[in-house]
Amino acid sequence: MIIAANLKTNLTRHDTALYIEEVDKCAKQSKQEVLVFPAISSLDSFETKVEVGTQNAYPTVKGAFTGEIGLEQLEEFSIKTILIGHSERRHVLGETQEFIAQKFHYFKEQGFKIVYCVGEPKEKREAGKDATLEYISAQYEGIDTNYENLIIAYEPVWAIGTGLTPTLEDIQEIHTQLKQKSPAPLLYGGSVKVNNIKDVLRVKNVDGVLVGSAALYAEHFCTMIAYADELQLKEK
Ligand code: 13P
Repeated sequence: MIIAANLKTNLTRHDTALYIEEVDKCAKQSKQEVLVFPAISSLDSFETKVEVGTQNAYPTVKGAFTGEIGLEQLEEFSIKTILIGHSERRHVLGETQEFIAQKFHYFKEQGFKIVYCVGEPKEKREAGKDATLEYISAQYEGIDTNYENLIIAYEPVWAIGTGLTPTLEDIQEIHTQLKQKSPAPLLYGGSVKVNNIKDVLRVKNVDGVLVGSAALYAEHFCTMIAYADELQLKEK
């Protein structure tokens, strides 16, 4: 399974280095693929089993894009993994599907592992399943769903940082639909915590999780990684 942490705008460079060191100890004892997305100012050359990716980058090698980083800055630290389409970039920072698709294409051409996020806001969920799926489908526009280095993360916007989660049946239903759109591994994200991760990972068509706030403490994230191992052992 893929167990990923999005640290968002949290932890200093110093604390991130300690965090990754701690998480790496757990990752080394685990069979899971562990990804961590720290703040951009905390990127570094980590020689770890934990794969460190960037939460964002501009689709360019370098240039006049104030406040952004490009390929040159990622290559400095051998970063080859990127998060694209996160709801906070779509809704807080105003990234359009067109721009997101442009980013996707650029980093695909560079061979990056792309964790591509999709998910509906509350009003779409309340409007019903058809409206929800229609909204999510539009987030696949311009995306190569067969890209071999693609991971998709379904993160309902209303479940992010709220403590709310869809029911396990709802997660299964949406994941089953989304699996028809792409063969890529499909993660669930949105208020995943130590106390619900086992239930979420047991859901059919859930290939892992993308965790925000509950992953901010290395100890908690390590517990989640260990739970994933336990589940896999039981399945055998
Ligand atoms: P929370 O786990 O804090 O809800 O955040 C999820 C998320 O946005 C991960 O990308």
